[in-house]
Amino acid sequence: MRDEITKLLKKEGKLSSETLNELKDVDIHEFANIVQEIGQGETEYIKASEISKDLETTYIGKNLYVYNEVSSTNTVAKFLAMNNVENGSVVISEKQTDAKGRSGKAWASPLGGIWLSIILHPHVDYSKLPLITLATGVAVAKALERIGVENAEIKWPNDIMINDKKVCGILTEAVTQFNTIENIIIGVGIDVNIDINEFPEELQDGATTIANELGTKENENNLIRIFLEEFENIGKVFLEEGIEDILKEWRKRSYTIGKIVEVRAPFNKYYDAYVVGIGKEGALIVEKIDGTLEKVISGECIIKN
Ligand code: BTN
Repeated sequence: MRDEITKLLKKEGKLSSETLNELKDVDIHEFANIVQEIGQGETEYIKASEISKDLETTYIGKNLYVYNEVSSTNTVAKFLAMNNVENGSVVISEKQTDAKGRSGKAWASPLGGIWLSIILHPHVDYSKLPLITLATGVAVAKALERIGVENAEIKWPNDIMINDKKVCGILTEAVTQFNTIENIIIGVGIDVNIDINEFPEELQDGATTIANELGTKENENNLIRIFLEEFENIGKVFLEEGIEDILKEWRKRSYTIGKIVEVRAPFNKYYDAYVVGIGKEGALIVEKIDGTLEKVISGECIIKN
């Protein structure tokens, strides 16, 4: 982690190679202050001032840290979270050089996308993490609906699809200490105005962008603001009314229910199944070929034609 942050400081010209050595002795909180300071500096097109202007939230996105380039906003968010930034702070970068996808995969993050991580200090246990990812998916879908995307669907557990192509991925990570969750980092990547040709070739067929789908470029700052509002709203529903309402919204937009899939659960447990629904802990409920029902708590599913 320290190495990654050192790289960020170097990149931002805050660090000469001579001082690099001295940094070994720099207090970690001092380090965190510098990282926060950089996140309040100038950026090219993602602007904290633009996002904040009409932002109607009470705590999500009230503190924004915006960077030109970081390895991964989740990594920077984790570092800041461990150094006492406020609940609801958001780390955003115009570009990521080593972004993380699910299952250890890389995530392409050129200019023109939305790459952000929300820091939460929640009072929840591990079992609620899948639900937080599902709720985030609903918030993204609702945000896309507000800018005119009519057919955003959610592929379990965390992909947002438009016309059968992926437009957004979500990576939720927990920062734990002594077995309790201290912070949750919710990383969201939305392909907004990217040229699909900038993606690795093997991803190009299965991916789309908001600009492609709407036929016009979308302002990233505007979409970030709308998403943060939807995220805070769904958080309120989660805390005040419980998960059932969120699951209803999820089911309405499900890309997965009613399809035949190949389930890829941990420990190489792969099998074909029919997707029956989603349970209240966020698990996918599938019917296996032998007719038995199974709950899939984590993993992926590949839609079969
Ligand atoms: C997936 O594999 O579908 C999840 C992709 C999550 C990507 C986002 S972009 C912002 C945040 N920072 C990261 O390194 N990853 C997440």
